[in-house]
Amino acid sequence: MIIQDKVAIVTGATSGIGLETARLLHAQGAHLALVARSRDKLEELVKKLPESFIVVADLSKEGEARDIVKQACNHFGRVEIVVNNAGCGYDGLVENLNTDKVRQIFELNFIAPLAIMQETIPLMRKQGEGSIVNISSGTSLLNIPNISAYSSIKSALTRLSLTAREELESSNIVVSVVYPYVTDTNFGNNVLSGPRQKEIPDKDDVLPPPDKPEYIASKIIEVIETGEPEIFAHEWMKDIK
Ligand SMILES: NC(=O)c1ccc[n+]([C@@H]2O[C@H](COP(=O)([O-])OP(=O)(O)OC[C@H]3O[C@@H](n4cnc5c(N)ncnc54)[C@H](OP(=O)(O)O)[C@@H]3O)[C@@H](O)[C@H]2O)c1
Repeated sequence: MIIQDKVAIVTGATSGIGLETARLLHAQGAHLALVARSRDKLEELVKKLPESFIVVADLSKEGEARDIVKQACNHFGRVEIVVNNAGCGYDGLVENLNTDKVRQIFELNFIAPLAIMQETIPLMRKQGEGSIVNISSGTSLLNIPNISAYSSIKSALTRLSLTAREELESSNIVVSVVYPYVTDTNFGNNVLSGPRQKEIPDKDDVLPPPDKPEYIASKIIEVIETGEPEIFAHEWMKDIK
């Protein structure tokens, strides 16, 4: 899809990967609906990305997730691109996981993208085109101790996305998945179980250093433009799969 002049919803636009994606989309001439919980950060961001529309929402509440699409559509009259990026981690051994906290990240990392897709697909169908990009994680390709809740929910998001891709192919709506590697953002500080001391996976420090969020944002732009089903932060991640 050509990004110029398209309307794009970016969730989690106040930090990290979402923030850099919003910057790149704006630079390419997209009209943006920027979504996050922090009104102050969104109001600062809109000064740098003029003409953007801000939507303050807690996407772990399904009703608010659905409503962001209605608000964006009321404002712009159309939505061609959705980047379901907002997400949060929760660490813990399987035997110790708090199921309320698992539900909490399930709502944000799976139900919100699903609800946003459900609200957007009929609009895109009427428009005759659309691009939906769901941000998964390289952790969904592996069995890494202590992050099973997060990685398994991201795996579920991947499967949902690739199935929707098949279902929507004939409607010219392209659903894609992006798999970031460890990325230098606030993610580790926002993990529900408490800030991570050291990012994972980095067993014995033999793995490459974290990526910059700008780099992952460039991959998101690439997938919108090419319509590829899946894009990995690094070629070697494909072999894990
Ligand atoms: N960083 C990594 O190593 C890594 C690796 C693989 C995958 N990912 C995935 O990449 C995506 C972006 O993560 P990031 O690294 O950029 O994290 P980040 O720096 O912590 O940013 C998360 C963004 O999501 C928003 N957000 C969090 N909870 C929200 C909620 N309940 N409702 C609405 N917005 C919410 C935050 O804004 P507010 O706080 O203002 O709401 C922020 O804008 C996530 O889906 C994450 O799972 C990250």
